[in-house]
Amino acid sequence: MAPSLTAPLAVDGLELRNRLYRAPLLECAGNGPDAGGAMIEELAPAADAGAGLIFQGATVVRPAGGCVAPNMTRLHDRESAERLRPVPEAIHKRGGRIAVQLDHGGLRSREVWHRGYSGAEQLAVSRPPGALRALDAAGLLSLNPRVLSTGEVRDLAADFGRAAALAADVGYDAVHLAGANMGLLQQFLSPYYNRRDDEFADGARLLELIVAEIRERAGDVPLFAKVPAETRRPPFVRRGISLADGVRVAERLAAAGVDALVPVETSTFWDASLIRGAFPARAWRDDRFREGYAAAFGGRLRARLVELASRIDAARNDFEPAWNAEFCRRVRQRVDVPVLCEGGIRERDQIEALLGDACDAVGMARPFYAEPRLPARLLERGGAVACENCNNCVVPQVTGAPGVCRTPEALRERGRRERADEYDR
Ligand SMILES: Cc1cc2nc3c(=O)[nH]c(=O)nc-3n(C[C@H](O)[C@H](O)[C@H](O)COP(=O)(O)O)c2cc1C
Ligand code: SF4
Repeated sequence: MAPSLTAPLAVDGLELRNRLYRAPLLECAGNGPDAGGAMIEELAPAADAGAGLIFQGATVVRPAGGCVAPNMTRLHDRESAERLRPVPEAIHKRGGRIAVQLDHGGLRSREVWHRGYSGAEQLAVSRPPGALRALDAAGLLSLNPRVLSTGEVRDLAADFGRAAALAADVGYDAVHLAGANMGLLQQFLSPYYNRRDDEFADGARLLELIVAEIRERAGDVPLFAKVPAETRRPPFVRRGISLADGVRVAERLAAAGVDALVPVETSTFWDASLIRGAFPARAWRDDRFREGYAAAFGGRLRARLVELASRIDAARNDFEPAWNAEFCRRVRQRVDVPVLCEGGIRERDQIEALLGDACDAVGMARPFYAEPRLPARLLERGGAVACENCNNCVVPQVTGAPGVCRTPEALRERGRRERADEYDR
């Protein structure tokens, strides 16, 4: 019989109280003395409301570079780890479990696309693809790539291992590898980026090495990994990770010792394929962010060009319910570890149909911005989420603004549900 959303799940000995998780989502908590406090403010409501697992959003394993947006948090030494120690403590106090997602942005780093950070170098798997070089030549990106030597790739794997050990030491229950959010790990996996001729020409080799480093330095900490298929790449990109390639990567990671997999269909670029939904017109028109957009993109005219590109991007990446379900199903048929599904999951009935078929647990991201206490309602009362997939929460983050729901209709719906005590447990 298929398990229900409320049934517990064990991931390599980590007991989850149910099968609903908060997917990784930028917390914009930064690295100041109160990074832990800001993170708790963002994550504690989900734990308090009963989420089975919380994934802290992408957290960078190096002291400089690698952030894909302003105000991202780093985890690379004892001091940065101790700042985060209160986070797992706060989640545990509320009966929850938390995994930190480890990442490096590579060519997606903010140094490439954000004027406020341009100049600094970016780690690259190979010479950047022609399309990025053309945008650089047109002044729309600021490429300054440093292609990693074989030894430097090994050092990077060791940094992931060290960050995992620090995370386990300060109380995180698990580690999540950011293999599919168009960052450096995906760039290694992707034939569009990876033109190497050393052992890492096989990009999955880097992820296997990271798993080995984590096992050596952090023992048997439960390990999750996102796995990409670049099925949403634009038509002019001929080489990408196919669905079959993605399934093969998933099989190799499971064989290497990854304890749970999160398959996602995405693109070769940092576009809206990861967050399918409407064009965020309200966010682009919001006067409070106009100066910030101009500063981020190098002037008002350039910001208008990015807005136009965002409109085209949104038209290509319209919302689809449970858009990763088929990829998850294919991976689940080939591996023995739990498979987690996220992306456009919005209703309790839809969730129950996915569990035991496409996946073993389901996650949501943007709906947690709209309803931070969403699990209480979904687990105990069912129904649908208030989030409208409009992406007005996303664009202002380029200015350093926090990720919060900015759509009055969704916020009104949350208010109505609060007044009806629907988030009480
Ligand atoms: C603002 C924002 C930030 C995100 N940050 C991350 C991240 O740090 N790591 C990651 O793997 N995915 C990230 N994602 C993707 C989500 O985890 C999730 O896969 C995606 O939003 C689809 O789920 P949803 O339809 O429930 O929002 C982010 C999504 C959004 C909207
Ligand atoms: S702004 Fe609110 S309703 Fe729109 S996608 Fe973000 S969380 Fe959902």
